[in-house]
Amino acid sequence: MITKEKTTKNNKEKDNNINTSLSGRYSINPIPRLTLPQTGAPAQAAYQIIHNELQLDGKPELNLSSFVTTWMEPEVEKLMVENLDKNFIDHFQYPQSQIIEARCVNILANLFNAPDAANYAGTATIGSSEAIMLGLLAHKWKWKARREKEGKSTAKPNLIIGAEVHVCWNKFAKYFDVEARIVPMDKDDYTITADDVEKLIDENTICVGCVVGTTYTGQLDPVGDINDLLTRINKEKGWDIGIHVDAASGGFVMPFAYPDVKWDFRYERVRSINTSGHKYCLVYPGIGWLIFRDVEDLPEEIIFYVNYLGQTESSYTLNFSKPATGILGQYYNFIRLGHEGYTAVMKSILENAQYLANRIEENDNFKLLGAKTILPIVTFQLKGGESFTVFDVSYAMRQKGWIVSAYNLPANAESVYMLRVVVRETFTHDMAAAFMKDLHEVYTALNAEDKKTKKKSLAPGKKEKSSVNVC
Ligand SMILES: Cc1ncc(COP(=O)(O)O)c(C=O)c1O
Repeated sequence: MITKEKTTKNNKEKDNNINTSLSGRYSINPIPRLTLPQTGAPAQAAYQIIHNELQLDGKPELNLSSFVTTWMEPEVEKLMVENLDKNFIDHFQYPQSQIIEARCVNILANLFNAPDAANYAGTATIGSSEAIMLGLLAHKWKWKARREKEGKSTAKPNLIIGAEVHVCWNKFAKYFDVEARIVPMDKDDYTITADDVEKLIDENTICVGCVVGTTYTGQLDPVGDINDLLTRINKEKGWDIGIHVDAASGGFVMPFAYPDVKWDFRYERVRSINTSGHKYCLVYPGIGWLIFRDVEDLPEEIIFYVNYLGQTESSYTLNFSKPATGILGQYYNFIRLGHEGYTAVMKSILENAQYLANRIEENDNFKLLGAKTILPIVTFQLKGGESFTVFDVSYAMRQKGWIVSAYNLPANAESVYMLRVVVRETFTHDMAAAFMKDLHEVYTALNAEDKKTKKKSLAPGKKEKSSVNVC
């Protein structure tokens, strides 16, 4: 969110314009910082000014806080640049892009084991957040239609989720007026159980959310147990409550690394699944996917038809215009890597994650959170007894270029402070070794400083209470 930029009395005058040394080389009028310039600047100058300024950003390859893809092959970059000018929503003008989207939806439905007999449906989105909101809206409308048919109230829909869900689930609840019934975490348990769900469920439950690869710890909610619970309870009470699986990060690790582990449409109650194309599907940011087990899970009333783009076109998205590039990048990866390619990539990412986890485990200063690395997400804590915090470690690692998430867990596990490394394809074995060397040095320096000065914290403004950097 952006609010009005503040200028202090002292810097008001000199900060009014972007002061660029490039004005010595190009003839550039002063460029106002916060208002549109009256005249333009030469293209090279505009490029160079912004290019230089962006050097202040962190390096994406060293951003171990993010799940999002930071490298793709030159051939797919060429393809994406060639198609930058296409507005995907304009299906009439760009029908082939839509055909490619449909192929991707089919590939994903198959990969997530939609039954052969099912008439699955799906859509590309801008990311998992949009996909989750659309998926949950469909559950809400299906629940509403059923209640109306039975002549029952539709005033108080609710949704059952664990505290481990990504913030976009809470956004859905607030934006779309659904009560979020949240199972709190436990100090030693960071996922939900079927028993937790049973305590909260009722006739107004639109669906239960399960996460396959939680943002906080990378763990998996027990989809199978919750499927069994819902099968039983629906039969007993005559309800039709389904599951939406948030496989934002797990959706492309599980089918290749653990093909026999069930979490997807192999469970009958799983009616919709989202995944982020820009996470382990290995595409640059801006692509997510929503897949419905059956077209009946997507009520017709929430599909929109518009006729102002040349023909009548259907749409089930929150945004209207968007680039086609993410979809094209996704399809490139599908045909470029295939099953074998994705399996090889996931295997090597997991090997590097395991290597990092082993090295952390060997290090006396840290302890792993959770015994097993399932997804390539390594979470760990300080061994205890230090007067500096995980935020100090994260801050000091930033000085060495590494971006590492530091946060504490939600209620009732808020006393658990941790660091998180998301291992991606670009994080090699050698980088893991370099990371460990830096981590060790940072810890040693903080420890020495701590002993010397008894100073509480090196990181300005970072206090133990806040949860930061979880994305
Ligand atoms: C489990 C989970 N769900 C949803 C999201 C939101 O995904 P996106 O950034 O693709 O909107 C994330 C992001 O990290 C996530 O980890």
